Formats: sequence, structure tokens, C-alpha cells
Amino acid sequence: MSKTKIIVTVSLIIFAVALIGILAGAVIFQKQPTVNPITPVNTSKITLAVMAGHNSQSDCWLSVRGKVYNITDYISFHPAGPEKIIPFCGKDATQAFDTKGGNGSHSAQASETLSQFYVGELAN
Ligand code: HEM
Repeated sequence: MSKTKIIVTVSLIIFAVALIGILAGAVIFQKQPTVNPITPVNTSKITLAVMAGHNSQSDCWLSVRGKVYNITDYISFHPAGPEKIIPFCGKDATQAFDTKGGNGSHSAQASETLSQFYVGELAN
């Protein structure tokens, strides 16, 4: 074999190996999508038992009309004091919220504030 043929053959082999390497690298390291385009919506509901576990001032969930709220961050700002809400942490507070514990009714602003703490639907 002539020297030229050897150089051409070796060059072709090196080229082929490099090409296979590049293609293999492209397949292995191809960018994975960061967000699953069909991420399922979380439709699971919160049971009374789960809500009941959040029953203290430092971890307070309550429900109003079938919706569960985590009002932990709000409780110390409640205009009537946290002590009005604490008995309802972990429980259904529909009647208490609607009647302000027997003192009338909360303003639309109070309902708007409440909606900011929504965490999910209460299971039947
Ligand atoms: C669940 C039991 C609750 C009871 C018994 C209760 C009771 C009361 C009472 C007695 C007042 C009158 C305060 C005053 O006149 O000085 C009041 C005011 C207020 N509460 Fe509650 N509350 C409860 C839950 C909540 C919750 C969960 C929120 C919001 C996240 C809230 C938001 C407010 C606001 C904004 C006011 C100011 C007045 C108004 O906008 O109606 N309350 N509450």
C-alpha cells in the first residue's frame, strides 16, 4: 500500500469515528424539555382529616363553603385578634366566618383577603 493510500484510509477512519462520536453525543445529550407539556392539573381534594391536622395558630387551615384556606400567615393580623379564629383552625368555619362569630358579617374585603389563602377544595 502506498503512503498516500495509508494516509487517506487513516484520515477516513478518523473522520468516521469523529462523525459517529458527534452523532452519538447529539443523541445522548439532546436537550430534554424542562416542563412536561401535559403536566396534569392537581385535582385531589383535601379531606377533613388532612385539614384537621392543621389546627394551631402556627399552622392553621380552615374551610369556608367547601374551600380550604391556609390562613397561618394572616391569623396574627386579624382585626378581631387571632383568638377569634384559633378555635376554627383545622375545622369548617363557614358559619363563624359568615356571622363573624355572631357579630354580623364580614366585609367583601375580608372575603377577598380569605381568597388569597386558598389551598384546595374540601373532599366530601
Ligand atoms: C373563622 C372565624 C372568624 C371569626 C369568628 C371572625 C370574627 C371577626 C370579628 C368579630 C371581627 C370584627 C372586628 C372588629 O370589629 O374590631 C372581624 C373582622 C374582620 N375579619 Fe374576621 N373572623 C373570622 C375569620 C376571618 C378570616 C379567616 C378572615 C380573612 C382571612 C377574616 C378577616 C377579617 C377582616 C378583614 C375583618 C375587618 C372587618 C371586615 O372587613 O369585616 N376573619 N372578624
